[in-house]
Formats: sequence, C-alpha cells, structure tokens
Amino acid sequence: MNSGPDPRSKITSSYRGRHILSLSQFTPASISILFKKTDELHRLIKRKKPVDFLQRSVATLLFFEPSTRTFVSFSSAIKKLGGSTIDILSPGETSSFAKGESLSDSVKVFSTYTDIIIVRHPEKGFADRAASVSSVPVINAGDGEGEHPTQTLYDLYTIHQKFRRLDGLKGLVMGDVRNSRSIHSLLRGLALYKRNTIYLLSPKELFLTPDFKKSLPKTLTIIEITKESDIPVDCDFWYSNRLQKERVKGNAQKILKNFPVITPTLLARYGNKKLILLDPLPRVGNIDEQVDQDPRAVYLTNQLENGLFVRAALVALVLGKL
Ligand code: NCD
Repeated sequence: MNSGPDPRSKITSSYRGRHILSLSQFTPASISILFKKTDELHRLIKRKKPVDFLQRSVATLLFFEPSTRTFVSFSSAIKKLGGSTIDILSPGETSSFAKGESLSDSVKVFSTYTDIIIVRHPEKGFADRAASVSSVPVINAGDGEGEHPTQTLYDLYTIHQKFRRLDGLKGLVMGDVRNSRSIHSLLRGLALYKRNTIYLLSPKELFLTPDFKKSLPKTLTIIEITKESDIPVDCDFWYSNRLQKERVKGNAQKILKNFPVITPTLLARYGNKKLILLDPLPRVGNIDEQVDQDPRAVYLTNQLENGLFVRAALVALVLGKL
C-alpha cells in the first residue's frame, strides 16, 4: 500500500516516482522539463546510437481496452531505451483478474515484479485506484471517458513544435467532446497556460457535461458551437476526435448525421495557412482521407512520431533515469 501523498498531487519539478494520472498534475514548468528531455531523446534515438537509460527496467503494460498507438508506442519507446515490457492484453481473460483476483492484489504483484505499471481501462478512475495501491509509478494510458494524459503531452509537444509557445492560442476542437478522454485531457492541458481560447464544435448532445465544464480552470476560454459557419478563420490548430461509440449514450447513427468531418472544402472555407490539424487517432470517418496529403495535417506524421519520443522521455523521467 502506498502511504505517500495524494497520487494526483502536482508535479512541480522532479518526476521521479510520480504517478501520471491527469493533466491537472502538471505545470508549465514541469511540461517544459519533459519537452527538453524529449528533444534530447529524439536526437539520440534518431541517431540510432545505443541508448540504454532503461537498461534492466521492466514495465507492465496492462491494457483492458483495445489500443494500437498507445500500446505500440509505449512498448517500442521502452525497448528503444533498453528496457523491457510485460504485455498483458485483455487482462480480464488472460490474467488472474479472470479468476476474480482483486485490483489491489494484482497491483501488488505487478509492483513487486516490475518497475512501472502502464494501464488502460474502460472505467473512469481505474488508474487512480491502481495508483493508490501501487508501490511503483502508475501511468494512466486512458481511463474510460476520464483522461488520457500521455496523449495530451504529445499533442501539446506537437503544437509547441509548430508555434514555440502554448499560451495565447486559438484552437478548434471538434467531434465527441463529451466522451473523448483525449479532448478532456487536452482542455486541462491548455488551461495550464494563459489566454487560450477553444471553440468546441459538436452536436449539442455531445457538448461537455456541466460538471466537467465547472471543473475546468477559468484560464481557458471555451466557446461551444454547433454550426460550421461559426468556426473562426484564424485558428492555430484544429483537433478532431471520432465519435466514442463505446461510450456514447443515444443513437450513434443519428448523432453521426451531424458529426463534424474535416474535408478539403471545410479547410478551404475556414482554414488558414498557419494552422495544423491534429487527431489522436483512430480516425473513423471524422477526417476525409483526401486531407492526409495537406501539409497542415500532422496526425499521421509529426504528431504520431512524437507519441514515441514523449512517452520515452516520460517513462525515463518517472523511473529517475533521465
Ligand atoms: C484515443 C483513446 O484511446 O482515447 N486513442 C489513442 O490512444 N490514440 C482516442 C480514440 O480512441 O478515439
């Protein structure tokens, strides 16, 4: 049992031994430390020189939900740094969770045998519960509609790469704003900085819940819109996420009729030269494939690539190896 401080307490300087559960734990200073380390690792890994910061470190990858990018990027990042992973996919079928073992007993096992636990689960708050009984750091790789902090860390890194700042930005965030944990973490991340304004474009039934809105720091200006004609033409970025079918309440087919889709026409009408287009992926009908060739589209290029570098730096920092 971890008798330490609140698992969600703020990370102000050192990452060593910390759980990563929510963007609300971060400060501009701690994000800046992570980005500097990411730049360093990026250079080292790209040079294809041996990098062994994580030699002899072992990570548990505990994924109760499907995953492509998050799983592969964590697994590859750890291995590229000389560490190894124990991959437990669908633990409800393949581990003693299937026999009814409690979370607390299972976490005891993972934290006795491995150095860090990276967990994805369909239930909001699951990573927090794991963290509260773990003696090793827990990284939230997505908890239901809750948060997806490592996604946001590389989304912010990608935005910073382009604009060299994370304040005073105007963004359009579109799609399943209500159920997307990637969007929830992104909003919390942008709220850490001053003078950011976000237009949220979605059908009314996918607006943020009042509780979530109330919980957002007032530093972030939120403007909810339902019509494409209300998109401002001077955005710095557009961020789209698919309908979260696995979580949406109501008739998904009906909701999809009014779901915003990025097309070349939409971009020609409301886009501008400087903006970048992000999507945590998977893209499922929310971005027309014709947009992929547009140089502003970074979801299959820089954003995707940054996922590995930011996660590599984060794991190394949390394990006190960087
Ligand atoms: C996101 C997720 O799992 O929340 N995927 C990802 O990790 N890149 C977004 C999504 O599933 O739509």
